[in-house]
Amino acid sequence: MNNFMFYSPTCFVFGKDTENQAGALVKRFGGSRVLIHYGGGSVVRSGLLDRVKASLKAEGIAFAELGGVKPNPRSGLVYEGIRLCRDEKIDFVLAVGGGSVIDSSKAIAAGAVYDGDFWDFYSGKRIENALPVGTVLTIAAAGSEGSPDSVITREEGMLKRGASGDAIRPRFSILNPALTQTLPPFQTAAGITDIMAHLYERYLTNTKEVEVTDRLIEALLLTMIHEGPRVIADPDNYEARANIMWAGMMAHNNSCGVGRSQDWNSHNIEHELSALYDCAHGAGLAVTMPAVFTYVMKHDVMRFAQAAVRIWGCQMDFAHPEATALAGIEALRAFLISIGMPKNFAELGAKEEDIPRLVETLCRGNGRPGSISGFVTLNEDDCAAIYRMMV
Ligand code: NZQ
Ligand code: ZN
Repeated sequence: MNNFMFYSPTCFVFGKDTENQAGALVKRFGGSRVLIHYGGGSVVRSGLLDRVKASLKAEGIAFAELGGVKPNPRSGLVYEGIRLCRDEKIDFVLAVGGGSVIDSSKAIAAGAVYDGDFWDFYSGKRIENALPVGTVLTIAAAGSEGSPDSVITREEGMLKRGASGDAIRPRFSILNPALTQTLPPFQTAAGITDIMAHLYERYLTNTKEVEVTDRLIEALLLTMIHEGPRVIADPDNYEARANIMWAGMMAHNNSCGVGRSQDWNSHNIEHELSALYDCAHGAGLAVTMPAVFTYVMKHDVMRFAQAAVRIWGCQMDFAHPEATALAGIEALRAFLISIGMPKNFAELGAKEEDIPRLVETLCRGNGRPGSISGFVTLNEDDCAAIYRMMV
């Protein structure tokens, strides 16, 4: 196991009706003038926004509002949010929504206290300062409620990139599983896929002797395999949603990723798809992961065979471990299709003729060196071959 520092100071408040504590939590974490940031309207229709506002009013907290965050959030609204924070002397950003809303809130929070262009943070500069951020989560997926990361798409060139820094870790995150019951089944499934990707991207490691995190990841993946089909069959199943919601947080606050190298090639390859086609990130991952895993499998067949046996219950074929490894990848593919995820470019809305453009942005965009690195380093030919496997 590698040396590590794990710093995860977010206060999680979990369970039914917890959104009514938003005002008290903002106060506890020092907010007095809040920007409430939200998406395309689901929180308005569900009445959640009104409940959050009532909770702020009850604590005497002033607030401004900025809605309109799109999935795969864009830089244009971030600039607007930064201006609003400065004009209104905002001292706390409260995200009410999914990963896109949270990521946009984090970008605004970092940009509001930075003299330069906030996009610097999405071009490699680490975020050291930000307004405090809190979240009321409405979808179990991105894990942004417990992560130090934010992913934004710059309209110019449709460049989707991430930024990171402990300053944007939420001070608190309110997780009420009942709020996720209004999700369309496709979004629920896309969220499940993203959570599983966050686990797989950590499972694919070159670090030896990481039994404790291997076992944590396996437990969380087994939870998703158990609860995923239950919640798809019965969207009002609070207990299944509760287990998925907490698994989603644990999958991505890095408690399962400490002390080990991680992959993230599937995420990088997918981000080009959701940037260009505006597809759901989880849906893109459903198509990307089986292709990437099949392509890189030979790098460490036994790791994939271990996943197949421990996670998917495959029989170990000691004479042909690659057959076991492949069976595990096929089990993942079949599972994702079974919960309603797309299986190829066509179902995703992606086009084969765009592959050169996807590869160019992936491997060269924003100053990248012609390759991406993770579990294995993938050059432009590798990435083109992987995209072709998805067609
Ligand atoms: O905008 P509204 O109207 O709220 O609708 C949203 C949106 O259309 C809807 N929705 C959310 N909660 C709902 C609901 N509809 C009904 N009832 C509810 N309770 O669902 C749609 C998707 O929402 P979005 O926030 O985009 O989903 P998600 O949480 O999957 O976030 C995806 C974004 O997070 C990034 C992705 O790349 C993508 O841009 N990621 C962020 C990470 C991070 N910050 O750590 C890590 C991830 O790997 C990921 O890259
Ligand atoms: Zn993800």
